[in-house]
Amino acid sequence: MILGIETSCDETAAALVTLDGEIKANVVSSQADLHARYGGVVPEVASRRHLELVMPVLREALDEAGATLDEVERVAVTQGPGLVGALLVGLSTAKALAWARRLPLVPVDHLHGHVASLYLEPDPVEPPFICLLASGGHTLLLDVRAYGGFDVLGTTLDDAAGEAFDKGARLLGLGYPGGAAIDRLARGGDATAFSFPVARLDGLDFSFSGVKTSLLYAIRDLGDRLEACRSDLAASYQRAIVRALVQGALAAAEQAGRDTIAVVGGVAANSELRAALPGARFAPLALCTDNAAMIASAGRYSRPLPYPRYLDLDAYASRV
Ligand SMILES: Nc1ncnc2c1ncn2[C@@H]1O[C@H](COP(=O)(O)OP(=O)(O)OP(=O)(O)O)[C@@H](O)[C@H]1O
Ligand SMILES: [Mg+2]
Repeated sequence: MILGIETSCDETAAALVTLDGEIKANVVSSQADLHARYGGVVPEVASRRHLELVMPVLREALDEAGATLDEVERVAVTQGPGLVGALLVGLSTAKALAWARRLPLVPVDHLHGHVASLYLEPDPVEPPFICLLASGGHTLLLDVRAYGGFDVLGTTLDDAAGEAFDKGARLLGLGYPGGAAIDRLARGGDATAFSFPVARLDGLDFSFSGVKTSLLYAIRDLGDRLEACRSDLAASYQRAIVRALVQGALAAAEQAGRDTIAVVGGVAANSELRAALPGARFAPLALCTDNAAMIASAGRYSRPLPYPRYLDLDAYASRV
């Protein structure tokens, strides 16, 4: 089995996955409540919480799998991108475990992890495909030609889609993180009530800062009437973001000549996005937001570093 560890942001996660991609355990402890009062993730608070949670989460994963560390053949851990202090907790834990048991270690790129959430049983997606990766920190269109990697076809020039949901939710007074709250509120609203512009760019890049500003102005203009319009605002705002994502994914598939579109990352949980791309493959709901099963899954496709050649590995904050 592969032991996966993920601590890149505010989820402390451990999972056990077989080399065939069967999930034996997938434990995620979210710190969202801890950060909610600050309206976003506080890096130092996240690192300290990871430190407290990483061993209990790991033990729970072993319990859930009915396994011991003896059955672990390889350790896969997120190396970046993410909050460096948070990443270092997972990376140091993984190094210590692998080193003590003389196991190989696979450093995993978090974004490759999100893509690899599609490779798990019982219904794995096979490359090639176009992957829309829409999360709290990234919005990417990827041409996935093989299991081990991908080419980036497009990215956001400003906010990520999940960030746009979170900032919109804050403007609507829905708390943090807000994507799921907007999704729920939008169900009772009229998506045609407000017209929010979707930035059209050349090529396959996205921009979500304009739509956020439009929401801000709409809320200001409404004044006292805001309360009566909140669900319409949520529905119209969500429609604008979803439309941009769908158009981008379809254009990428056409440009790259791919028949399959897959969607991963936290925003892949969005119900309107799921409905708007009926032919696409979506990551299972439990694997959309951060988890370690996807990290263990990615660990199946990268070459592991043999014991003890991983002790000097460092975390990285971004890919460039
Ligand atoms: N139903 C939903 N609709 C829209 N957005 C959602 C939904 N559920 C979760 N999200 C958004 O998903 C994001 C979290 O996703 P994820 O955990 O993949 O991101 P991250 O790990 O913070 O970022 P990254 O993977 O880029 O480092 C948040 O922005 C959240 O608002
Ligand atoms: Mg993520």
